[in-house]
Amino acid sequence: MFLHCCGMSPGTTVRLEGFHAVKHALRFAPECVEQVHVRDVEAVRTLCARLAPDVLAALLSRAEPADVAHHTGVEATARRPEQDRDVLQRRTAPLVLLDAPRSPGNAGAVVRVAAAAGASGVATTGTLDPWHPTVLRGSAGLHFALPVLHVESSEVSGPFVVLDADGDPAAAVPEGAVLVVGSERSGVGASLRARADLVLALPMRQGVSSLNLATAVAAVLYRGR
Ligand SMILES: C[S@@+](CC[C@H](N)C(=O)[O-])C[C@H]1O[C@@H](n2cnc3c(N)ncnc32)[C@H](O)[C@@H]1O
Repeated sequence: MFLHCCGMSPGTTVRLEGFHAVKHALRFAPECVEQVHVRDVEAVRTLCARLAPDVLAALLSRAEPADVAHHTGVEATARRPEQDRDVLQRRTAPLVLLDAPRSPGNAGAVVRVAAAAGASGVATTGTLDPWHPTVLRGSAGLHFALPVLHVESSEVSGPFVVLDADGDPAAAVPEGAVLVVGSERSGVGASLRARADLVLALPMRQGVSSLNLATAVAAVLYRGR
């Protein structure tokens, strides 16, 4: 089942599963991280000292022993941050706009690569809550590194670059463009397609119909780097 209704709002507590999710939240928005639950404090101290010494003190200061299910032995609760909605109007790096995505795993993978590539944010239209637990799981906690918003498409100002396999492979993406990415089943909807300033294609071998949407976002974000 892929559809999840929008429900959580800023201020809601979300659950972070696993060391990497907790590490990223502590690194990018430590003020949001409330309790860190650890199965074995000494084991987590060793893991964190090796992989992320920069967040060791912050992690240990919040650590409470608990029965943790995740295989890394670390989970946390965090406050969902207020989101910067100015990014919908003006920005210097691309904003990724997912038009009615269906798979929370795909949306999480997009948040992860958008954070890594320095995008200004990720916005979604449609019924999927971009803060749904499964989306959070897919982003490895990188929801705390950039704005992740549910929007009405009318709130977003362009320029709009629609990603579509039938577009122009040579199209140059303007700085601060909105990269519009379609849903798994039906691609970009008619209303956003009508607002396209340009339509960009990633060339594919004959016979291949499309890329996974997170792969398409990754290819475009890293194209000009
Ligand atoms: C799985 S594809 C959607 C395929 C869908 N059946 C369709 O009719 O477009 C999801 C989204 O990824 C992007 N995408 C996938 N392959 C692409 C390509 N080769 N060039 C540009 N965008 C692509 C598009 O935005 C597309 O709407």
